[in-house]
Amino acid sequence: MRCRKCGEKAVINMRQHRLSLCKQHYLEWLPNHVMKLIEKYEMFSEHDHILVAVSGGKDSLALWDILWKLGFHTEGLYINLGIDAKIAYSNRSMKFAHEFAVQRNLPLHIADIKRDYGESIREISARTRRGRDKPCSLCGLIKRHIMNRFALDGQYDVLVTAHNLDDEAAILLANTLDWSLEFLARGEPVLPSKPGFLKKVKPFSRTYEREAAAYAILRNIEYMRDECPFSIDSKQLYYKKYLNEWEENRPGIKLRFYLNYLSAIANGAFPTRQESAGQLAQQRCPQCGQPTNTGSLCAFCKLFDEI
Ligand code: AMP
Ligand code: FES
Ligand code: ZN
Ligand code: ZN
Repeated sequence: MRCRKCGEKAVINMRQHRLSLCKQHYLEWLPNHVMKLIEKYEMFSEHDHILVAVSGGKDSLALWDILWKLGFHTEGLYINLGIDAKIAYSNRSMKFAHEFAVQRNLPLHIADIKRDYGESIREISARTRRGRDKPCSLCGLIKRHIMNRFALDGQYDVLVTAHNLDDEAAILLANTLDWSLEFLARGEPVLPSKPGFLKKVKPFSRTYEREAAAYAILRNIEYMRDECPFSIDSKQLYYKKYLNEWEENRPGIKLRFYLNYLSAIANGAFPTRQESAGQLAQQRCPQCGQPTNTGSLCAFCKLFDEI
């Protein structure tokens, strides 16, 4: 396997792009690939104040490294969910994020749910019906709320998450199997801002998980390798397993699934509800002010209302 650009020994073969590259050319190619997506969707510019949500894993640290190298003005946010599970999961993940930031002299903010809300995610899920001892099912809701709150309070221009193509394809498969039209309408890599919600973007949404991992390893980025200890039987991992099998037999199937879905959205396949400014103002949570569909407490505030 030889590098398409220089003929040296290739370190990665991306069958979905019919492209093999050596270390040097791969470390040039991925940032360019990401930059094209940032420009195509006008995610942000060099004038913006960008908040990157970092978990300490390979995707978010690789993406933060790329944005830093591209010269964007970024700060990181790590949310400590208080997960121990005998492997000090949250504290070790935080340490990887912290060391990464220190090495590059980048600001990293820490939100700690035990400190700020009095309970770890394990404790919240144990006492709520929605969590029913499955912390991961609450995790997305809690993280989204905290990220949005922090980004709004800090007056950032945009919030970046490192969802990769494997994440997006698995979410898409789950939403398709459920015919969740509401979620299917919101799957684009840019969610524009609206009252109470900051603009949210996913610059890694066309980057395969293995491409992000290869980048992190080739750049000598130290990252948390363990999966969340509560995610053993998570729905997302289940769908990822099947998608990986299909990808093995039909290279590029994940990318086509996702890209054809984006074309379907662009062609109006999933109409979104148009809300007037008045409707949006009425649909704010009376406790925290974030938007809700119900007009009463938002899902996040309900978790703590049960205490
Ligand atoms: P996940 O929700 O685990 O699928 O992660 C999706 C994205 O959310 C990651 O790529 C990160 O950008 C962000 N993220 C996940 N966990 C955390 C965390 N503990 N703190 C901050 N951001 C996170
Ligand atoms: Fe967050 Fe498991 S508790 S992914
Ligand atoms: Zn090369
Ligand atoms: Zn609320």
